[in-house]
This record gives sequence, structure tokens and C-alpha cells, in this order.
Amino acid sequence: MHRSRFSLSRRQLMASAGALALSGAGWLPDMNDRASLRELGEKSGLLYGAAVQSRTLREAPRMAQAVARECSLLTPEFELKWNTLRPEPDVFNFSRADQLLRFAERHNMRMRGHVLVWYKSVRDKWLIEALNNNPPESLLADHIRTVAEHYKGKLYAWDVVNEAIKAKDGLPDRMRASPWLTAYGPGYVQRAFEYAYAADPITPLFYNETNLEYDDEETRLRRQGVLNLLDKLKRNNTPLHGFGLQMHLQVGRPYSPKSLASFIAEIAKRNLEVHITELDVSDVDIPGDRDTRDRLVADHAREVLETVMAHAPVTTLSTWGLSDAYTWMEDRYFRADGARLRPLPLDRDYNRKPLWSVLADTIEGRK
Ligand code: G3I
Repeated sequence: MHRSRFSLSRRQLMASAGALALSGAGWLPDMNDRASLRELGEKSGLLYGAAVQSRTLREAPRMAQAVARECSLLTPEFELKWNTLRPEPDVFNFSRADQLLRFAERHNMRMRGHVLVWYKSVRDKWLIEALNNNPPESLLADHIRTVAEHYKGKLYAWDVVNEAIKAKDGLPDRMRASPWLTAYGPGYVQRAFEYAYAADPITPLFYNETNLEYDDEETRLRRQGVLNLLDKLKRNNTPLHGFGLQMHLQVGRPYSPKSLASFIAEIAKRNLEVHITELDVSDVDIPGDRDTRDRLVADHAREVLETVMAHAPVTTLSTWGLSDAYTWMEDRYFRADGARLRPLPLDRDYNRKPLWSVLADTIEGRK
């Protein structure tokens, strides 16, 4: 995701300084007096949620309080993936995901299921070997059935398949070179949805995809691959109900509101509910002090969200994490100046940031 350093236009930096002065003068509503994202979403109908880990909710009470205050729904960050759920062929370990479901139920929240089939969940030796040796259909079918039956009727939605498209792999229909494709052929996507629906016909089933927001060749090809996949699934009467747009954003990447708008409009034409599933905004590549970075993160999120919200029936907006204290990005990306990343709506002390205000405006319906 982070390929090279990006320069920022003088306009962007001046705008951020100007807006900072305004907010400093108190001319903008003080975000700390505003209702929570949860209250705003349950009033407007655009529910807000965040990805969380069971261990974090157990060990960080202030994070648990912030999640309960701000979120209407939560997504297990990794507890429902194959490599966590099923360490051995005959062992299903639901305990960590069940802890998250109990937290959600205790706080009258919903939980999104993430994710039944994903190429990056193939981590354990037994599964790698099985998928490389002409596995029976039952390996895929029984896993999905077991997991979907365990949570039948208890989840707000399922991400059934994640990130199946990658144009640069050069395969037919721009399919990603995935162990699932190797083992089961391109029909694995449709069959995964069919197995999930057979086990739980109540829960809406989503296809979730990443890296669709920017204006480069790979993204343009990926967008077309995604649309073709959705059309094929619908042509075959696959039980597909929604599309998950991950929205991992990065300040400074080449962005064209026009091309994103036309892609999102194409998604809308396919009568799919849209969930924004993994929003965060990387500031790894931009210079500047903390407040300038926060303002540029917020401004970029606002411009992308305005485009998406204007063209798609978005019903939930989830960030991938809630506080900068817990972001997956810090496992992989590092600023040249050594400063900690600030991609999420709350800072490391759970204070609301300018990005929080952007989410509040989006959820409340304000531009
Ligand atoms: O909790 C265990 C710990 O007990 C163990 O000692 C340690 C050693 O490996 O692993 C810990 O689990 C890690 C888990 O995150 C919790 O930190 C897993 O190894 C690690 O693979 C897992 O990474 C997650 C990653 O998906 C792969 O599942 C990230 O948290 C999560 O943010 C990331 O999320 C993905 C979405 O699912 C799909 N879209 C992209 C997004 C970001 O990569």
C-alpha cells in the first residue's frame, strides 16, 4: 500500500493550517460536546462500528468503554478467520469470537462476521498442505457450514469471501492467485456463498474488497474485475446481498473523485447494500506535525466519504480499529520521523480527533 513518498500541495497545507486556526478559534462545533457516533448513527440509520480484538476489550477497559460509547456494531479483527478458528482439521475454537459476541450482546451492539474465506487466512501447515493436494469439497463446505451454523441468526452480516480479485496476478477474470482458487477453481466464490446461505439463510452475505479507492492502473483493472465477479455471482443466482468496501485510505495517493464516483455508481446499479468495512487513513508518508497530519487525514477521509456516500446505499460505516493505540498499520508501516501513526478517529488516549468529526458529519448526514 505504501509505495513512495508523496509531496503535498501548498494548497493542502495552507488549507489545513487555515482550518486549524478556525477550529482553534472555536468557530467549529466543539466535537467533545457532540453525541457519540453510536447515538448519531442510530438516529440517522447509518450505523457506525469498529474492528476490535477480544484481548484488547479484556485488557484495556478504556478501550472497551470507548467501543461501547461510540459503536453500534463491532467486527472481530481476526477471531473468525480460519487460522484462529481452526488450528487443526478437527478443532474449532470459537472462544475468542464468542467473547466478542457476548460483549456486543451485553452492550446491545451488533457484530459483523469477518471472514469465512480469505487467502491470507491460509496460515496453518495442515491447511496449506490440504489445499495443495486436491482437497475434497467437504473441506470448504464443512468449514463454512460449521462456522455459519454456530453463529446462525446472531450476526449483522457475514463477509463470506474477502479480496478474491487482483488484476496483476494475470489470471482469467482478474482473479487473485489464491490457495482457494488453486484448490477449488474460480467457482469457489459462488459455492462459499451457497454454503453460507444453506447454513444460515437469515444473515446478509457480503463480498468484501480492498484497494478500490485510488486512481491507478491496478485499481482500474481491479474495479472492473470486481464488477465482473459481482455480475457473474448475480447471473448465477448466488445468495449475495451486499458489497463491503474496505476503504483503507492513504493521504497523498493519486485520487480521482470522478473515477471513484463512477465505480461506486456501478456498484449501486447492482442493487447491493454497501458496508464501508475497514476505514482507516494512513499518514505514514506525509510530513508535518501532529495537528497538520490529523487535519490532512480528516480532509482526505471527508472527500472520499462524500464521494462514496453520494453514490451508494451505504448502511454501515466501520473503521478498522477505533483508537490509534490499536491499529494493524503499526505492525507494518513506519514513519521516517519515527512518529506513531494516527489513522483512526480517537487518539491513543481515546480523545476525539478531526477524523472523528468527519465521521460524525458523515453519519449525521452533514457534508
Ligand atoms: O493473538 C495472537 C498472539 O497470541 C500470538 O502470539 C501472535 C503471534 O503470531 O499472533 C497473534 O495474532 C495475530 C492477530 O493479528 C492479533 O494481533 C495474528 O498473528 C496476525 O496475523 C493478525 O493479523 C490480522 C490480519 O488481518 C491477518 O488476520 C490483523 O490484526 C488485522 O488487522 C488484519 O485485518 C485485515 C482484514 O482482515 C482484511 N483487510 C485488511 C486488514 C488489514 O490487513
